[in-house]
Amino acid sequence: MIRCLNIVAALFYLSAPALAAEPAQLKQIKRGEYIFHISGCKTCHTNTKAKGKLLAGGTPLKTPFGTFYGPNITPDKTHGIGNWTERDFVRALREGVAPDGSHYFPVFPFTTFTKMTKRDMKDLKAYIFSLPAVAQPNIPHEIGFPFNIRLLQLGWKILFFDPGKFQPNEKQSAEWNRGAYMVQSLAHCSECHTPRNIFGASDQRNFLAGTPDGPEGDPAPNITPDKETGIGKWSAAEIADVVNFGMLPDGDFVGSAMTDVSQNLAKLTPQDLKAIVVYLESIPPIHNKVIAKKK
Ligand code: HEC
Ligand code: HEC
Repeated sequence: MIRCLNIVAALFYLSAPALAAEPAQLKQIKRGEYIFHISGCKTCHTNTKAKGKLLAGGTPLKTPFGTFYGPNITPDKTHGIGNWTERDFVRALREGVAPDGSHYFPVFPFTTFTKMTKRDMKDLKAYIFSLPAVAQPNIPHEIGFPFNIRLLQLGWKILFFDPGKFQPNEKQSAEWNRGAYMVQSLAHCSECHTPRNIFGASDQRNFLAGTPDGPEGDPAPNITPDKETGIGKWSAAEIADVVNFGMLPDGDFVGSAMTDVSQNLAKLTPQDLKAIVVYLESIPPIHNKVIAKKK
């Protein structure tokens, strides 16, 4: 009987490799899973519409410069990032630089992920590397000249990219700083809700003031506390409902790219959700009425 139990135990052990990990490693993976959901890596790296495998890539991302395809970031050694070291991973997120030294296009939001703490990046890698490897080749981006020249990205970065981790504001509370970190980096609200200039760089003077040219050409609303054109009249509870539930004050549900975002953010801890609301209510209100473009 005891022997039999041993066999059951051994089989269980073999079929669940994650359980073989050290408790400290498991904790790291668990933390990484949280970062993963909040930062929405799945959205661009999984071709959900075509029922693609998790993080295996092939997701079409339409931009004014052409169509990019999210690459395979599973731990597959040939088609994914299975050969990457922790350093490679941190460099890609912090600097937007590939292991071979080439520069990434800013459709990969390294411009906001750069602010992540090193610990969050390492935990994120541990989680991604605990997921199944998928042997699926990448699809080349379909972008026109001259945007397809990777070296030009270096010039773009010199003009528009400010690498380095989030710097807390010591005059503000820990909660406010946590919210700022979530909004500015992890949850990258600004990637969609801040307008871009003609070079595709976000215009920080209009931080979160909305744009008719949001993802997939859909408008992204003004989410500054402006009373008339933003969300200044919303209560804290109403803001929280949109962020982690997708429900608007009038009872309708958000659509477009925000659907995925609020599904991911449904995993927020109550403290992080509150921190996001506290931060959003504190940013400068900007008067900007977003008018959807005719399609
Ligand atoms: C808005 C879409 C988007 C989001 C969100 C996104 N990525 Fe990406 N990512 C891309 C695109 C597009 C590329 C390809 C960039 C290029 O070819 O220059 C890329 C490239 C990468 C690469 C380099 C892969 C390689 O083979 O060189 C890594 C690693 C990566 N992303 C990890 C992540 C992680 C981790 C997250 C979440 C924290 C994330 N990405 C979120 C779109 C996205
Ligand atoms: C991938 C793009 C994307 C990201 C990232 C994103 N949003 Fe949104 N958000 C949208 C779009 C698009 C809409 C409009 C949805 C619609 O038309 O129903 C929206 C709607 C909203 C609304 C409703 C505003 C209104 O007036 O109806 C709020 C509030 C909001 N987002 C807050 C946030 C916050 C806070 C974050 C970060 C934690 C965030 N969003 C991240 C794209 C995004």
